[in-house]
Amino acid sequence: MKTQGVDVAVTINNVPRMLAVEQDESLLLALRRASYFSVKSGCDDGTCGVCTVLINGKPERSCKIKALEVDGAEITTLEGLGDAEGLHPLQEAFMGTGAIQCGFCTPAQILRAKALLDENPNPTEEEIRQALNGVLCRCTGYVRGVDAVQRAAAKMRDESVEPFSHIEQTLPQEMAKIELPEVFYRRDGSRNPLPPLVFTPREMTATRIVGKPEVKVDAKKLVQGRPVFTDDFRREGMLYGALLTSPHAHARIRRIDASRARTLPGVHAVLTYEDITRIKYASGGQSYPQPLPYDQVSLDNKVRHVGDRVAIAAAETLDLAQEALRLIDVEYDLLPVVVDPEAAMQDGAPIIHDEADTEGIYDPEHNIVHHIDVHVGDVDAAFAEADRLFEGTYRTPKQQQVHLEPHICITYFDEDERLVIRTSTQVPFHIRRMVAPLIGLPVKKIRVVKPRIGGGFGNKQELILEDLCAHLTLAANRPVRMEYTRTQEFTSSRSRHANIIHYKIGVKDEKVIAARLYLIGDTGAYGAHALTVNMVGGFKGLTLYNPPNAHFISDVVYTNTPPAGAFRGYGAMQCQYGMEVLMEEIAANLGLDVVEFKRRNWLRVGEPMYLSKALGEGREGVEQSLQTSALDQCLDIGRLATDFETKREKYRQQDGRYRHGIGMAVVMHGSGIADLDMASATLKMNDDGSFNLLMGATDLGTGSDTILAQMAAEVLGISLDDIIVYSSDTDFTPFDKGAYASSTTYISGGAVRKAALKIKVQILEHAGLMLGGIGAADLELQDRQVNAADGRSISLAEIGLSSLHQQNQHQIIASASHKSPFSPPPTAAQFVEIVVDMETGRIKTERLLMVVDCGRVINPVTASGQVEGGMAQALGFALEEEMLFDDNGQPLNPNLSSYHIPRVTGMPAMDVIFVQTDEPSGPFGAKSVSEIAIDGVAPAMASAFHDATGIWMRELPYTPERVKAALKQAGQ
Ligand code: FES
Repeated sequence: MKTQGVDVAVTINNVPRMLAVEQDESLLLALRRASYFSVKSGCDDGTCGVCTVLINGKPERSCKIKALEVDGAEITTLEGLGDAEGLHPLQEAFMGTGAIQCGFCTPAQILRAKALLDENPNPTEEEIRQALNGVLCRCTGYVRGVDAVQRAAAKMRDESVEPFSHIEQTLPQEMAKIELPEVFYRRDGSRNPLPPLVFTPREMTATRIVGKPEVKVDAKKLVQGRPVFTDDFRREGMLYGALLTSPHAHARIRRIDASRARTLPGVHAVLTYEDITRIKYASGGQSYPQPLPYDQVSLDNKVRHVGDRVAIAAAETLDLAQEALRLIDVEYDLLPVVVDPEAAMQDGAPIIHDEADTEGIYDPEHNIVHHIDVHVGDVDAAFAEADRLFEGTYRTPKQQQVHLEPHICITYFDEDERLVIRTSTQVPFHIRRMVAPLIGLPVKKIRVVKPRIGGGFGNKQELILEDLCAHLTLAANRPVRMEYTRTQEFTSSRSRHANIIHYKIGVKDEKVIAARLYLIGDTGAYGAHALTVNMVGGFKGLTLYNPPNAHFISDVVYTNTPPAGAFRGYGAMQCQYGMEVLMEEIAANLGLDVVEFKRRNWLRVGEPMYLSKALGEGREGVEQSLQTSALDQCLDIGRLATDFETKREKYRQQDGRYRHGIGMAVVMHGSGIADLDMASATLKMNDDGSFNLLMGATDLGTGSDTILAQMAAEVLGISLDDIIVYSSDTDFTPFDKGAYASSTTYISGGAVRKAALKIKVQILEHAGLMLGGIGAADLELQDRQVNAADGRSISLAEIGLSSLHQQNQHQIIASASHKSPFSPPPTAAQFVEIVVDMETGRIKTERLLMVVDCGRVINPVTASGQVEGGMAQALGFALEEEMLFDDNGQPLNPNLSSYHIPRVTGMPAMDVIFVQTDEPSGPFGAKSVSEIAIDGVAPAMASAFHDATGIWMRELPYTPERVKAALKQAGQ
């Protein structure tokens, strides 16, 4: 209940003021209510640290402090840094180094760094890590944050600091001649951040803006803590929505009575399944038509996992909405529970989807939502012909995305009675199309606005809150805000599919001639992404070594656990883990050099990808072959940088408690979905020669707004600050499929390049007119002007003014759409160096190095940030992250204090090297970089662990308990 308000006297950002607070209110809520929006909320228990502010100069988590307790205190929020003269050196350094991705953790990181530097102007790298350790970041891998603090500290000590940039080197024709900057050998064993290193083949054409380390176009507002996220927005009369979730993993709702909740003063709407028309849907944000089954409804009379939706309420305050939920009487008939996917397929298992109105479940009685069986060649004949057959079974965990900004959505009717959905989503256009039938409004009555997003990693490629929030707005006729708690992120959003991966491989003359992959995918209670994740897993898992005889069988299975969905890596990382480990096991078994064995077998340039037609993404695919790959060079550079062979030799001799290991893996991914993903872009010219770039593409912290603007600037001969990027709003930006499938650089970039080329033609034509009729072919566009062969030139500002106000008046504007028949794979070599404590089972990771071919690197800082962040998430996947459930489907670790993601003090040295290729189908030669970054750490970890201990660990994550058990079983 609302308590008595009190005023506390505080000084906030050097300004004395009275802060109106409630009796039990946290400082976090009081500050946000007073519009200090840089103070973020990311968890329910003070673990994440994104709510950090400075109280009397000391960093404190504002969610853990009662607002009443700060009477008389001096409080600093990020809004208080910098002044009229400019940004604080920390803000500048965070911008300049690429330490900001989504920016949700940035205010807290900077404030912690400020407190450190105020006390200690010359901190060591370890002291910086200790200072930042209280704030989780899921995007960056922490590398650039440490770098930023080091640079800011140096600047504040009046030392000269070189601007942050990458290192460029020409790629020699002969790999024997390759040399690396000394620091990349890491001979001092430090984990000091290194800039990314970019190798460029001599024959690649030079570019002007593309390929440069431009600062992210949204960096300044993020580093200032401006109100740019979904929740940094208030609407007059806004209500607070809340979701009642199921405490049971499997039950039928026998009776639900919301009458007491509805009579509570201040409550404006309470909805159960009895109040909402039953419309079936699939929640995965994918292109139309989404794959069957449509196995969900907004609110149902049956619950299938702990955390499943039961009822919703909207009230004047969040406390009231939650109280209303507590007043709903629900009587459940409990049903048997199954949480193990293999058990779920047995005769007599509880049937999770027994409803009559879901179409497209392959075998509901055995909970098999999809059964996939495709092959090329004749696998059994090839097995018969093989010299040796090898098999292995591998298990990968259910991992949570843990974006720091929870799912959040605000819905309201605008002045034209159209429903506005302001939501943190990766797929605004899919959301508009998918939500329309659920709420009974036509698409034209809905506008979806995507502000800045505080991370998503696939979990926001999903309809999660939008339909519920809209239902409440429709019922209450008021604006409504809904946000997940951190626990609900674990129980009621999505996760990575847990997989059981069984490979059988036939080898003849050291060549993989046949492979069969049987994949069990645990999709949890609903089938969102069930088909596509597992198809991608099969395709990538069997195409990395591309045997001409390949057989993929998959059962995707319902269990009474929270649904799996999209998560960076999307099936490919799980299956490549199994494949890579088995390949290394085979090499060891045959006494072969693992590097050369893999090199002899991996997919080569010019080779058809045998399964590309049979395994599209949710539908039949298209024939594809590999056009570009620098995997040979990536692997050799990584070997050189890590001194791989020498260390392997050395580690053979070791014994004692601490054992070193070095491992490597090769991986591939894709760039968008071939022949399906489509994106569009619009460019229009302004009076001053600047341009608006309107994109449906969704920058969720990746830097896509920036690299897309770089592409436009490259074509138009302008600098980045002449482009104003806006993304995304279904009313004002053209369609884009959204941010998933590693598609934005390749597909959306293709649309931007086409639109820019069209604009260029219009500019040249208008300039020709202004110059008295010179043909466009005789003109050149560069450096913000059009030059004629006779020496005359006209600036873009003059062209802008003329075209809008004077000659042949018209708007210089162009839109373009892009789709590709290809999905060119980026390739990479991942290296991992570890120390295993044979007594505790603890693995300490000392170095992660990824050498990546992502085509042309559009921006080395944002691209390396993607790789660092991907490796950090993969490190969690490999060593510690696993959503656990008991036999009744009760979650055992649904919060950040029991489910651990990597923190900065636990991070190893993390290095990124790019080897560029010129992909002919990509914009400026680009492929993709975001997802491949996560694929390699787990198999390279397995490789390193075997190197250290001689044991193949086939189940992730490698927790101390699992390692100890493996060591014990091996008699060590
Ligand atoms: Fe740290 Fe996104 S930049 S959570």
